[in-house]
Amino acid sequence: MPLAAVTVPQAFPYQGSKRALAGHILSLFPDGGVPRLIEPFAGSAAISLAARRHAVAGAVHLTDVNAPLIALWNLIIHDPSTLLAAYARMWHEQHPDPRAYYLAARDEFNATHRPELLLYLLCRCVKAAVRYSRTGDFNQAPDHRRLGARPPHLAARITAASHLLRGAATTATQSYADPLVNADADDLVYLDPPYQGTSDVPDPRYLTGLRREAFADTLQAAVDNKVSFIVSYDAVREDNKYGQALPDELGLTHRHVVAGVSTQATLQGRRRLTVESLYLSPALVRRLGGEPEIDRLLSPLPRQRQNDTIPW
Ligand SMILES: C[S@@+](CC[C@H](N)C(=O)[O-])C[C@H]1O[C@@H](n2cnc3c(N)ncnc32)[C@H](O)[C@@H]1O
Repeated sequence: MPLAAVTVPQAFPYQGSKRALAGHILSLFPDGGVPRLIEPFAGSAAISLAARRHAVAGAVHLTDVNAPLIALWNLIIHDPSTLLAAYARMWHEQHPDPRAYYLAARDEFNATHRPELLLYLLCRCVKAAVRYSRTGDFNQAPDHRRLGARPPHLAARITAASHLLRGAATTATQSYADPLVNADADDLVYLDPPYQGTSDVPDPRYLTGLRREAFADTLQAAVDNKVSFIVSYDAVREDNKYGQALPDELGLTHRHVVAGVSTQATLQGRRRLTVESLYLSPALVRRLGGEPEIDRLLSPLPRQRQNDTIPW
């Protein structure tokens, strides 16, 4: 489906956001869209926002294991003005000592888990990367070069995201298995698990010890239930090593897509494309008309990337 050039709002910065993949993922939606898109690793919900913006999902269900993150989504959807007032207050109060203010806000977040504090931390922390200690405390450092989006800029983004989701989004704090395995036949589930490079670490909240074997068993249960799903899984990491593929026995259809230019390589003065693996469930492949149709849907590459060349 050719996508119109429209702007999709990003409510907050989030490491691992799949904005750059949205064109590819949305091209794999059944014709006419789906009644409900489920995102069990919601994060900043880039695909749900794109699906709502392009009118290819009647409803979205956002779930994530991180409770304050889901509380933040609830505020964005149902009470954005209270959230934005709190952010504006914090943004102004952080002067003249932004570092000390950030550290105090981080302590307060760890004591209270209040979602508006999470929003401030995400806007200010290094690489917008959520990191928790083994004891469950948010421990990411502040980025000294950035004070976070100015309140009017953030307000524009969050208000736009809120409009796209209000009345169409439900949320839940839970692990990915239930929303995936129990999806209805006409749902589409988009799965974006944490990167393999970071996910095999026992961590009580962010990573929850998501292991490839357990993940594969849950995918098998979803295949058996004829769930339509797409998984993005890291094929090539920043260190240029391949992550482990998902097991062949699952019978998933695997394709590589170009997700954009590697920021890490660009910082090092090189130009390298980030390639991502997409896996489609048999039920979705059938729904889309078979494997040749998948190749047609994924090609040509989105217009803005046609001039990029892959350096290997
Ligand atoms: C790579 S991020 C998803 C990014 C998202 N696609 C976006 O556009 O921002 C992975 C997410 O999975 C969540 N997560 C980690 N383990 C999980 C689990 N067992 N069940 C559900 N969510 C989990 C993390 O909290 C994180 O938000």
